Amino acid sequence: MSDRRRFSQGVQGRVGQRQSMPLFNLAWKSKYFWDGRARSLREQALMPIQDHVEMDESLDNIVQKLKADAHYPQRFQAAFGSGSISAETIGLALESFLLVQTSHDSKFDRSLLGEETLSAEEQRGMELFFTEYDPRREQFGADCFHCHGGAHFTSFGFANNGLDNDPKDPGRFRVTQSMTDMGTFAIPSLRNVQLTAPYMHDGRFQTLEAVVQHYTSGVKRPEALDPNLAKHPNGGVPLSGADQRALVAFLCTLTDPKFASESSNEVVAAQNLAR
Ligand code: HEC
Repeated sequence: MSDRRRFSQGVQGRVGQRQSMPLFNLAWKSKYFWDGRARSLREQALMPIQDHVEMDESLDNIVQKLKADAHYPQRFQAAFGSGSISAETIGLALESFLLVQTSHDSKFDRSLLGEETLSAEEQRGMELFFTEYDPRREQFGADCFHCHGGAHFTSFGFANNGLDNDPKDPGRFRVTQSMTDMGTFAIPSLRNVQLTAPYMHDGRFQTLEAVVQHYTSGVKRPEALDPNLAKHPNGGVPLSGADQRALVAFLCTLTDPKFASESSNEVVAAQNLAR
């Protein structure tokens, strides 16, 4: 589902600097990579091929290799017409493959259809996830939904979630050069999150328990900290041990068995492409 290594390895054992991102429901995104530097999947798919740390190849070379292959010319012809092996059609073919990896069949989804019932603990976790933390209005939720809400469990935005006071990786700042984007990263979908450890752009957390601990006591206060977290008490939203466990139990209801099974091997192989 997602690379278990903290940083994925490229050619000749070269190591990248970010955790690979899982690949599903990509049709709904409009910016790709942790810093959103690619505007489309067809553009994204060609980048790791040429990246020095990842595949360190030239597109010309790939085109020549595919043209010399026993099967690809025929397949490209069937898909795109004759003489059609080019960087553009390679991008389109990879994009088409990625677009059909969809995930929508978790215990959570089935509970909405009335086909399964969440346990009391999972239900409590869901309530925390979708409730504000606003003591003045006597609301004591975990406030996750601002960023990870909606059917995709992401707003598709970018945010600084308080990992470091002085971020080592500037994240989206590198793309926009705007200080408000310093240390901000794509808000990941939490679907299948049980399967995608380690967590965050640099894979710093091994478990969901550690992630929840971050949001309850580890949130730092960098300047670009998102207002939805900056409004909380220092450290984060205070949650009891039982509530922290409930939140993790709820996150585990977002697992789609299709992605948990061996049959998703191609997805595993392909996802190294998307760091
Ligand atoms: C202000 C927006 C925001 C809020 C609120 C927020 N998150 Fe996040 N979350 C993010 C961002 C951004 C990342 C990725 C950060 C990075 O890697 O640098 C992230 C990462 C995660 C990850 C790791 C996913 C992965 O694939 O690596 C989990 C799990 C997570 N958040 C759960 C939660 C939970 C649970 C809550 C509520 C307690 C919450 N988040 C509240 C923005 C937010």
